[in-house]
Amino acid sequence: KYEKIWLFFGIGSLFVFLAVLGVGAFAQGNQPPSCLTTIDPEKVDQTPPFDKPGLVKTGDNEYQLNIVASAFSYTPNQVEIPKGAKVTINVATKDVIHGFEMAGTNVNMMVEPGYVSSFTQTFDKPGEYVILCNEYCGAGHHLMTAKVKVV
Ligand code: CUA
Repeated sequence: KYEKIWLFFGIGSLFVFLAVLGVGAFAQGNQPPSCLTTIDPEKVDQTPPFDKPGLVKTGDNEYQLNIVASAFSYTPNQVEIPKGAKVTINVATKDVIHGFEMAGTNVNMMVEPGYVSSFTQTFDKPGEYVILCNEYCGAGHHLMTAKVKVV
């Protein structure tokens, strides 16, 4: 009889644990609040550094990659990064919420209108990395991709 009570308790705490884990991962994975800067979504094109999107060298082996997201593309949509470079990726959207996921890396951001999403990643492995929008943004969502080449 007592075993049943303990079994219930065990399963119950397992569910609580999973729920906490799920909520935590979702909230954190999408956007670390410390990385967000505000931007006027209607003036993304005129606001530096997004007025000249692309890769900018900021130091010894250090770069900034500034990308503008809009339905349904990224600007620029082809970037070459030197192998070993430490790159801070900044993304801003001109319209709706987009995603910014780089397959095979830890880069996975949510791009919200009015905010700049940033993430720093070191590219040690040469190859091609596909950038995908993982936030449903409209009819062309599945076409929204870009490519990064590490050479
Ligand atoms: Cu942009 Cu989905």
